[in-house]
Amino acid sequence: MGSCQQHNHNDTNCVRVHGPIIVGAGPSGLATSACLTQQGVPSLILEKTDCVASLWQNRTYDRLKLHLPKHLCELPLLGFPRDFPKYPTKLQFVSYLESYASHFLIQPRFNQAVRRAEYDRGFGFWRVQTQDSEYVSRWLIVATGENAEPVIPDIPGINIFDGSVLHTSSYESGFEFRNQRVLVVGCGNSGMEVSLDLCRYNAIPHMVVRNTVHVLPREMFGFSTFGIAMTLLKWFPLKLVDKFLLLVSNSILGNTDRIGLKRPKTGPIELKNITGKSPVLDVGALSLIKSGKIKVMEGVKEITRNGAKFVDGQEKEIDSIILATGYKSNVPTWLKGCESFNKNGMPKTPFPNGWKADEGLYTVGFTGRGLLGTASDAVKIAEDIAQQWRTISNSSCNSYVIQLKE
Ligand SMILES: Cc1cc2nc3c(=O)[nH]c(=O)nc-3n(C[C@H](O)[C@H](O)[C@H](O)COP(=O)(O)OP(=O)(O)OC[C@H]3O[C@@H](n4cnc5c(N)ncnc54)[C@H](O)[C@@H]3O)c2cc1C
Ligand SMILES: NC(=O)c1ccc[n+]([C@@H]2O[C@H](COP(=O)([O-])OP(=O)(O)OC[C@H]3O[C@@H](n4cnc5c(N)ncnc54)[C@H](OP(=O)(O)O)[C@@H]3O)[C@@H](O)[C@H]2O)c1
Repeated sequence: MGSCQQHNHNDTNCVRVHGPIIVGAGPSGLATSACLTQQGVPSLILEKTDCVASLWQNRTYDRLKLHLPKHLCELPLLGFPRDFPKYPTKLQFVSYLESYASHFLIQPRFNQAVRRAEYDRGFGFWRVQTQDSEYVSRWLIVATGENAEPVIPDIPGINIFDGSVLHTSSYESGFEFRNQRVLVVGCGNSGMEVSLDLCRYNAIPHMVVRNTVHVLPREMFGFSTFGIAMTLLKWFPLKLVDKFLLLVSNSILGNTDRIGLKRPKTGPIELKNITGKSPVLDVGALSLIKSGKIKVMEGVKEITRNGAKFVDGQEKEIDSIILATGYKSNVPTWLKGCESFNKNGMPKTPFPNGWKADEGLYTVGFTGRGLLGTASDAVKIAEDIAQQWRTISNSSCNSYVIQLKE
């Protein structure tokens, strides 16, 4: 994949890449590479780990399944195998992504963590530096994900806590927490599902809910809630769709306010569009909250040596802490001199136009719409670059010469 010319320059290994450089071999990088291949454009993926889909392989818990049905999580050009269940497991999803990479002959360069990428205005190329090489191309595609790094909050006292503290990205299963009292900080999809998993191992999760949260059933009337919402949005205004979702959710799940999960005033889809905050799709945690097996706690005031104090004055002894506090983009740490991303590492141009920036820069998978957003970005990027590629090829500029600065 990606025809390259390599030479040494002042002890730096310089690699001239024909076609775009893609940073990240997750679903977004793979999908974009496949779409480019289909358009006849070579590309090169630089991946910091030693495998494709490293988030799914190395940083997700054992019991994880897709929360959306498989037809809403497929990458372009190659669907899931027919015999996969409606909600594939993480292992099935990983095997799909590996087959996807093989099918399109995608061979990322592994162990290439991009430390810095900057547009060289003098030459009109992107210079992309890893620990041992500088890669140069006319196009740079950012595919490092919205969930590149864990968010680790600075909770007062956490440093003096005697037990173990880990983020959900390092959590595998409740086995190592069996019979323990566990503080789960955060009540997004990860916090809810980890709490559910802990119960399977006889642990006692105390889940911190510091804010309002929308919990929706994963399915309504046998259909994916998310799928229903997307269909309704084609015909009805957003606020009406949100009202419908809440009406049905309340009739299926009951009033969640009564069990400590107060709903935001803004509806679930509108809130997602405004703030990026995902609603929780319930896969069983709610019934364990109702039965008291998962304990809902208000915000944490401070952590002590062997427990936690909460803002409502309660105090609990705790054996371990799991931070289900979410993730953030890492783009600001490596993409330099570029105005297209905000300080949180998200494109400044909102969906659906965030995929293309200036000077040959593209972003895939930063739509806040999961794998569906990835698929749509990948197709658009490949079409856009292919058009330029053909123009360049036709005017035989494809043999441009790069003179690297002294
Ligand atoms: C627990 C969990 C469950 C999820 N479940 C779903 C779901 O069911 N459905 C859904 O649609 N979405 C889900 N998501 C969202 C998920 O992030 C996307 O589905 C998908 O993984 C995004 O793909 P991506 O390629 O954009 O990012 P990632 O999968 O994060 O891939 C980014 C890649 O870039 C690499 N990388 C990062 N920085 C660098 C660098 N500097 N240099 C080189 N390489 C780098 C990483 O190692 C990684 O391989 C889930 C997220 C989490 C955390
Ligand atoms: N099977 C699946 O499909 C699946 C499973 C898991 C995750 N996901 C996806 O993965 C992404 C990340 O999900 P996530 O649950 O890991 O993260 P998330 O949705 O960002 O949720 C983070 C949670 O942590 C809380 N939090 C953050 N800092 C806190 C602090 N200092 N004290 C107390 N609470 C704090 C947040 O509360 P506030 O709201 O108050 O900030 C929020 O409840 C989402 O897109 C999600 O949908 C999908």
